[in-house]
Amino acid sequence: MLNPKNKNIVLIGFMGVGKGTIARALIQKTKCMGLDTDDIIESMENRKIKDIFETDGEASFRTLEKKTAKWLEKSVKNSVISTGGGFFKVDNLEKIGTVVYLKSSFEGILKRLQEHENAELKLAKRPLLSDMTKAKALFNERAPLYEAKADIILDVENRKIKEIVNDLICVLKLKK
Ligand code: S3P
Repeated sequence: MLNPKNKNIVLIGFMGVGKGTIARALIQKTKCMGLDTDDIIESMENRKIKDIFETDGEASFRTLEKKTAKWLEKSVKNSVISTGGGFFKVDNLEKIGTVVYLKSSFEGILKRLQEHENAELKLAKRPLLSDMTKAKALFNERAPLYEAKADIILDVENRKIKEIVNDLICVLKLKK
């Protein structure tokens, strides 16, 4: 069985693909609880991701992701965990739960972000999206790595949240 009792569901994928939105919709439909790795880090540090990048640099943020990953593995069960776009690189990812890669093209992700009512805010809070040429290169570098780490690959491009959530409930055999 893909999602045994108490196992977490870990959503991975590129920035802006909709990990948080899909996690929240899944939580509403199931008995799972929800957590987000960026939110955990912001609470732990009492500052925004953007400030952590600006003040301490990316390497320091990655260390906080590793610390979060260890805590999730040890202390969290039965939850949907949405992750930052680079979180998939932590050593213990598969020990945290069933890993689901939410897949879309780079263009599909940009379209989704631009159509959002808070588009400017969505872009501003993500330091690695400030340069689109670099962001596209990062996407190309990561796309095969996300696939390699995933137990399940789910195409989310141009699909309704409701359909994506129903697919996840079905594939993961979650209780409604
Ligand atoms: C990052 C993605 C961000 C956040 C940080 C770094 C990345 O999360 O963790 O800015 O390396 O892709 P989202 O994927 O939620 O934007």
